Amino acid sequence: MSLRDGCILVTGGAGYVGSHALVELLEAGYSVVVLDNLSNSTFGSVTRVQEMTGKSIPTYNCDLCDKKGVEDIFSKHKISGVIHFASLKAVGMSVEIPLIYYRQNLIGTINLLDVMKEHGVYNLIFSSSATVYGDPKYLPYDEKHPTGGCTNPYGRTKHFIECILRDLYATDKVCPLSNYAVFVPQQTFVFTAKTPCHYLDSGSLLSIITDLCIVDSMSSAPAINNPSN
Ligand SMILES: NC(=O)c1ccc[n+]([C@@H]2O[C@H](COP(=O)([O-])OP(=O)(O)OC[C@H]3O[C@@H](n4cnc5c(N)ncnc54)[C@H](O)[C@@H]3O)[C@@H](O)[C@H]2O)c1
Repeated sequence: MSLRDGCILVTGGAGYVGSHALVELLEAGYSVVVLDNLSNSTFGSVTRVQEMTGKSIPTYNCDLCDKKGVEDIFSKHKISGVIHFASLKAVGMSVEIPLIYYRQNLIGTINLLDVMKEHGVYNLIFSSSATVYGDPKYLPYDEKHPTGGCTNPYGRTKHFIECILRDLYATDKVCPLSNYAVFVPQQTFVFTAKTPCHYLDSGSLLSIITDLCIVDSMSSAPAINNPSN
């Protein structure tokens, strides 16, 4: 299914990056659905996006840890792809309440991936974090820098999710994630079946959307976008 044949589910769509992504997606002609548990936002941001763009956005106050709630959204809408921004994201707090970070970020993401698989949705852009790099082996970071030396639970949740996504892609008979992107503010990598690591773009929120459009145009071939920050 081409991304334009359905809606893009934006998890964390009421948040800072997610709400800006909504504008880019709508202006690029995509239909969007927002899932957010409002733990760090309000739907006021989505209302403003609707006013700015003149387009309506179905919004759901849903926690990714509520799998039934996530399933209901996938049942109500024809979801063609997911941009996954929803996350607890404060490094310091993650040290104080690690279990909550692991539960929310990891279980929430696993629920999302389960439901995507149940509904045959294999296009995903995951918003990761520079914290996956941990203490730098060298600076500036580049796409060859190893990941995994994380120094806090928040970073570890992002790193573990990157590992899960790579495993899913590798075992694509079990879960054929066709398009998988890990967006990092400074680096965006794309992996495809034919091109193991193709560096796409650097930088900004716009690059996520650019990548999404590129992935969309590649969607006839198994493709993956990958990592970091
Ligand atoms: N802002 C940055 O500079 C930055 C840098 C690197 C990575 N990131 C990543 O980008 C993403 C978005 O960041 P942001 O700055 O917009 O954060 P944000 O807090 O503004 O947005 C995250 C949204 O996710 C929602 N959310 C959190 N946990 C949820 C859950 N379990 N179920 C449903 N909704 C949930 C929150 O209510 C919030 O609206 C995050 O994944 C973050 O780790 C952000």
